[in-house]
Amino acid sequence: MIRLFTGIALPAPLKERIAVMAGGVPGAAWQTREQLHLTLRFIGEVDKAISGDVCDALAAIRDKAFSVSLSGVGYFGPPKRAHTLWSGVASNPALIHLRDKIESAMVRLGLAPETRKFHPHVTLARLKNPSRRHLEAFVADHAGFASESFAVQEFHLFSSSLGHGGSAYRIEESYALDGDPT
Ligand code: 2AM
Repeated sequence: MIRLFTGIALPAPLKERIAVMAGGVPGAAWQTREQLHLTLRFIGEVDKAISGDVCDALAAIRDKAFSVSLSGVGYFGPPKRAHTLWSGVASNPALIHLRDKIESAMVRLGLAPETRKFHPHVTLARLKNPSRRHLEAFVADHAGFASESFAVQEFHLFSSSLGHGGSAYRIEESYALDGDPT
């Protein structure tokens, strides 16, 4: 079995910028540069046959290249039990369009539909009993965070495996998007 998800890789300079933000929240396990990514569609554990079908279905997707920028920070979960600190994505219909195409392709394959609302984000840190005061201060301090926009000319199928420093994500396949980014 292999744990899969589709997503977008981030340019190295953006990962450097994000890495600089890490710190100041006790209880936060900050993502490494290698872990930073933007998830489009979580697929989960599948066997070899299904993963082959997933690759074929993704390869058949045709969509346009686009640009993305990150905007603001926030967390998932109630303040006392927040579990994920993230940076958001500036409103982006093209990103949602691609995600919807992937969703439809996965459902056509027979995978269970994603029932959770799609909140595009880049996870900055996993949180375990974070200090609420520090968490709120981090969010307030970085509320104005805005990245340069970057071109998305391909998306990827990533595998996820549990290693010593948390999850290790690896690009298994890449799928080109068409044209110049808008
Ligand atoms: P997260 O960063 O918000 O936790 C690999 O695990 C990627 O898939 C991560 O970006 C993670 O999102 C996302 N992910 C993990 N489990 C998921 C699930 N059950 N539903 C949706 N996304 C999930």
